[in-house]
Amino acid sequence: RTKPLQKAVVAIVWPCCVQPHSTQERAQHELQVLGILAVLGLGAGTLFYLLWQLPPPPTWGQEHLEEVPTRSWGPLGQEVTESCQLVLVESIPQDLPSAAGSPSAQPLAQAWLQLLDTAQESVHVASYYWSLTGPDIGVNDSSSQLGEALLQKLQQLLDRNISMAVATSDPTLARESTDLEVLAARGAQVRRVHLGRLTRGVLHSKFWVVDGRHVYVGSANMDWRSLTQVKELGAIIYNCSHLAQDLEKTFQTYWVLGVPHAVLPKTWPRNFSSHINRFQPLRGLFDGVPTMAYFSASPPALCPRGRTRDLDALLAVMEAAQEFIYASVMDYFPTTRFTHPARYWPVLDNALRAAAFSRGVHVRLLVSCWLNTDPTMFPYLRSLQALSNPSANVSVDVKVFIVPVGNHSNIPFSRVSHSKFMVTEEAAYIGTSNWSEDYFSSTSGVGLVVSQRAPSTQPGVTPVQEQLRQLFERDWSSRYAVGLDGQAQGQDCVWQG
Ligand SMILES: *[C@@H]1O[C@H](CO)[C@@H](O)[C@H](O)[C@H]1NC(C)=O
Ligand SMILES: *[C@@H]1O[C@H](CO)[C@@H](O)[C@H](O)[C@H]1NC(C)=O
Ligand SMILES: *[C@@H]1O[C@H](CO)[C@@H](O)[C@H](O)[C@H]1NC(C)=O
Ligand SMILES: *[C@@H]1O[C@H](CO)[C@@H](O)[C@H](O)[C@H]1NC(C)=O
Ligand SMILES: *[C@@H]1O[C@H](CO)[C@@H](O)[C@H](O)[C@H]1NC(C)=O
Ligand SMILES: *[C@@H]1O[C@H](CO)[C@@H](O)[C@H](O)[C@H]1NC(C)=O
Ligand SMILES: *[C@@H]1O[C@H](CO)[C@@H](O)[C@H](O)[C@H]1NC(C)=O
Repeated sequence: RTKPLQKAVVAIVWPCCVQPHSTQERAQHELQVLGILAVLGLGAGTLFYLLWQLPPPPTWGQEHLEEVPTRSWGPLGQEVTESCQLVLVESIPQDLPSAAGSPSAQPLAQAWLQLLDTAQESVHVASYYWSLTGPDIGVNDSSSQLGEALLQKLQQLLDRNISMAVATSDPTLARESTDLEVLAARGAQVRRVHLGRLTRGVLHSKFWVVDGRHVYVGSANMDWRSLTQVKELGAIIYNCSHLAQDLEKTFQTYWVLGVPHAVLPKTWPRNFSSHINRFQPLRGLFDGVPTMAYFSASPPALCPRGRTRDLDALLAVMEAAQEFIYASVMDYFPTTRFTHPARYWPVLDNALRAAAFSRGVHVRLLVSCWLNTDPTMFPYLRSLQALSNPSANVSVDVKVFIVPVGNHSNIPFSRVSHSKFMVTEEAAYIGTSNWSEDYFSSTSGVGLVVSQRAPSTQPGVTPVQEQLRQLFERDWSSRYAVGLDGQAQGQDCVWQG
């Protein structure tokens, strides 16, 4: 005698071969078969559901920690009740007049000093290098005064017993700079992070956390040229302890790696985990405007659990765009820059092409062009531009932005657009990274993703992505933005106008 289960299995596998002996037995068989089919169906359904729920498999090298959303994260994100305030800030190089009445953000130097004025307890600075004074780079130019004023201000804060922690890259670019020695002598704690040893990158992040309540993030270095000679873009968020404490966790990853002989943890301790990310952005009213925001970080090795990777943040913002993607970056290379041999890395390039081709998104890319631009960048720009075909509704445009050197040729490594941002009809992305692989795999950086909805009850409120779009349009349509055709005629990134 075969057991019922065996019979049922046999009945499924070889239905033709089972010969039921009676009507009763046949009914029993059928019931068993139905039961088993139901169980299998349920199982397959569950499996299918689970697979469907999983994020798509990564298509680029992810050797590092995985970003795993946990069950406790609801779809609504972190609700905040405090009223955060977001201000776009920028630096426009001297002698770069923009058209009268054109939109502008708050001047960076003024915004930084104002932010430091609010400091009562602590200032934490993540920085690539410091050169806030003319002598730091051996230049005597009146445009270094704002940087010198900033250094003074930081010293005054230390004299008021405000604690200061600075994480900076080691080895440093500005070897002769004494800024950090000056600050350390007054009580600032300084840690030099040797990311070269840990991730083969550099600490390239640029952000501040003030009193665990306010943050600054953007492209500007702790360099006087960032205030008067280099074009920069950033954002300050005031009175926003949830976001500030989240960004502080990224600061802390640098801080613990800044001690001698530090090693990368295999997994970061739980208190470094973020609960504010792509899947669960912070939600609240910023100045009365419904806002979603989160910070991303790179490289993956410096992304504890829950931290959205910078590349994923960029891709997510691109993929959500239905109308336009406008990006302003210093360098654009669909390759690695600092590996030998270089590798092809078309991740962001493909995402732009796919948006333009598959969804009819209008893509505009504004890249910097200056004395130090590597000319091997142009074939990639021309290749992207070549996809454009307006009659087939594929719209891709590339321009280069040239800051005229004018009579500032005495200042090395200046007169360049150093901004790194992207804007779509949905969101603003403000970052610190050039667009090439290294900045997402080995070099540290952060990004701020923010999206606002203007409430119909408050006319006159301009969502941040609209403010950023206006700044992009101003630059795009300015005389300093030149199409690639102009480039082919040999402008060599030196302003002729
Ligand atoms: C810097 O230049 C100014 C004039 O442009 C001059 O008066 C001053 O002495 C110079 N300072 C140094 C340290 O060379
Ligand atoms: C700063 O702290 C030191 C030592 O704790 C103290 O002597 C000094 O008075 C404090 N200064 C201010 C401005 O609070
Ligand atoms: C931050 O909040 C404080 C009071 O909580 C307020 O006095 C201050 O004006 C706010 N700052 C900004 C920039 O909104
Ligand atoms: C996590 O906890 C450890 C030990 O208490 C502390 O040293 C570290 O600063 C904390 N890190 C963060 C990001 O809070
Ligand atoms: C392009 O888009 C317009 C409006 O969306 C549409 O009418 C037209 O058929 C499209 N052309 C092609 C070639 O897809
Ligand atoms: C540099 O050029 C600007 C205009 O482009 C002019 O206003 C300024 O006076 C010049 N400065 C010097 C030192 O020549
Ligand atoms: C990227 O940006 C940094 C400054 O932010 C600059 O020094 C560097 O040359 C840029 N280009 C590349 C390809 O890294």
